[in-house]
Amino acid sequence: MIEQTLGLIKPDAVAAGKTGDIIKMIEENGFIIDRLEKGILKKEHAENFYEIHKEKPFFGELVEFITSGPLIVLALRKDNAVEEWRKLMGATDPQKAADGSIRKKYGTNIGKNAVHGSDSLENAKKELMLFFGEQ
Ligand code: RTP
Ligand code: MG
Repeated sequence: MIEQTLGLIKPDAVAAGKTGDIIKMIEENGFIIDRLEKGILKKEHAENFYEIHKEKPFFGELVEFITSGPLIVLALRKDNAVEEWRKLMGATDPQKAADGSIRKKYGTNIGKNAVHGSDSLENAKKELMLFFGEQ
């Protein structure tokens, strides 16, 4: 099924000048970039986005980091996009991420892990709405 998912190129990767390399990997892996926007997230927006992690000990750090500089917001389209994008990103911890994945290549640690991807179709819809509004 053709799906749309939300991707972020996080502030660490943008600051490191990896935007182009990551977008190249996205296109080479057959994703269509439907939407692309660069900006800095407001604290309130970041807290909404990471709502599910609100009770976690790293929530404060997470919000601090994601708002620390410009990021790239992407709407990615492909057959089975949610799963395919998470596969291309690799495991949350870059040290555990598969060879050839984005996090393996460009991630620094579990916090600064270069990219985000929605974890279900339902969350993809919510996250796309949060960033891009009604399509
Ligand atoms: P993401 O949401 O960013 O695509 O990553 P994910 O699904 O692989 O990981 P998730 O469990 O949703 O965690 C969201 C983000 O929180 C940070 N994190 N820090 N310090 C820690 O132990 C810890 N655990 C998770 C990561 O940056 C992760 O991407
Ligand atoms: Mg997640």
